[in-house]
Amino acid sequence: LIIILDFGGQYSQLIARRVREAKVYCEIVPYNHPIEKIKEKSPDGIILSGGPASIYAANSPKCSGKIFEMGVPVLGICYGNHLIAQHFGGNVKRSPSREYGITEVKINKSSLLFEGLENKMNCLMSHTDYIEKAPEGFNIIGSTEKCPVAAMENPKYKIYGVQFHPEVVHTEKGKEILSNFLFKICKCIGNWNMDDFIEFSINAIRNQIGKGKAICALSGGVDSSVAAVLVHKAIGDNLTCVFVDHGLLRKDEAKQVITVFKEKFHMNLIAVDAKERFLEKLKGITEPEKKRKIIGEEFIRVFEKEQKKLSGIEYLVQGTIYPDVIESGTGRAATIKSHHNVGGLPKDVNFQLVEPLRQLFKDEVRKVGKNLELPEEIVQRQPFPGPGLAIRVLGEVTEEKLKIVRESDFIFRDEIKKANLEKEIWQYFALLPGVRSVGVMGDERTYSYTVALRAVTSTDGMTADFAKIPLDILEKISNRIVNNVENVNRVVYDITSKPPSTIEWE
Ligand code: XMP
Repeated sequence: LIIILDFGGQYSQLIARRVREAKVYCEIVPYNHPIEKIKEKSPDGIILSGGPASIYAANSPKCSGKIFEMGVPVLGICYGNHLIAQHFGGNVKRSPSREYGITEVKINKSSLLFEGLENKMNCLMSHTDYIEKAPEGFNIIGSTEKCPVAAMENPKYKIYGVQFHPEVVHTEKGKEILSNFLFKICKCIGNWNMDDFIEFSINAIRNQIGKGKAICALSGGVDSSVAAVLVHKAIGDNLTCVFVDHGLLRKDEAKQVITVFKEKFHMNLIAVDAKERFLEKLKGITEPEKKRKIIGEEFIRVFEKEQKKLSGIEYLVQGTIYPDVIESGTGRAATIKSHHNVGGLPKDVNFQLVEPLRQLFKDEVRKVGKNLELPEEIVQRQPFPGPGLAIRVLGEVTEEKLKIVRESDFIFRDEIKKANLEKEIWQYFALLPGVRSVGVMGDERTYSYTVALRAVTSTDGMTADFAKIPLDILEKISNRIVNNVENVNRVVYDITSKPPSTIEWE
């Protein structure tokens, strides 16, 4: 196990990803994670991430100095490197000129960290501070034109530091450097895989819950589904899942969730049909934020009602994944949309949380799901917003409009599947802007709805480009929608990226 102490760097997640790609399990914890807890885990090595702060600034984030007395190898990256330098009495200050971008670093190949590499390589540098003087006992093993200590080591204590970022692909040989740290310095074995994770987490869940009872709000999305199956493996029937069908799901989705979890996994599943309740609350509401708030709140009310019917529940299972932890941790971002998902449930109830996927990235969660034999439709499911189709029917939500979106969306998805484009497009769906226009069908004038199609490529949903779906496929989709979905006479394709647009229209 490798522990990564996160000092808020933009690449902390990438470090974790690279370590796991080398088949070594790692966990990211905040920089001030208690030293006793770190010791309890007996890590084979510790990596100190980069971060935006200056080490000499007041209140700069610091970890316990005892980290360096554990006898465990440490690698500091960028800010982590400054922290090592300062701790051991070196000198860190603002560099006379910032170094930002790909820079040539001359290295000393005799260091274990650089074993097997050439004398120089291109690395990504991104810093305003630098180490002017390495601490006593440390060898300088790398430098650039502007940075005298681009890498340093204290082989006796197995402490290493680099100013550049070995975790990004722009750093040539970054992978090799991390591998040297993991295998040559920390002596990791590199045989970790998803099955190990599953076994490890089932044991951890059993330890946490014991004979207690847990509840899980299941949406049918990847994260909550995988979390539920994992916890079910650990505690069996002491887990009850609550699936709230708010009537805003896509075609056949509710049926699919119920079949998979009840019939395939034989789980205790309470499926609540709350369609009418939600539609009633949404009647006459046109403002997007108001719609989102109503749905989020109603969700909690329904969940609470079900939970009260059960007795002795102490634990709440949530499908929180690593990016959720990061996003909720910053708390600085402006509210563009108030996101609602089952992961945000419920704040005021006295449950202990069980979050088995907290350390994983989305693609890793998918791998776990696959190993747990969850069906492809769930494992590969595209992101779907908690408020569902309510935010894809612009303005007031009605049964009639939901039906149009549901049918059009089904056709769109089916054609994308047939065209084999599923893996290339990150998210694709139909929506109803609510405008009607004039058309002609079989000599008759029509005055019907316009359906909009939205499809984007993205890696994390934070930024996105509209997907360049071939025109002949768009044509096919448009024809099929107009010919099969009642009350639609026009289909348009959204060709804006995010920003300035968002992915969803509301
Ligand atoms: P936007 O529209 O903000 O969407 O560009 C970014 C991604 O987030 C999804 N989304 C949501 N997911 N609850 C969720 O769980 C929500 O309330 C929500 N709103 C948007 C959206 O589908 C896209 O993938």
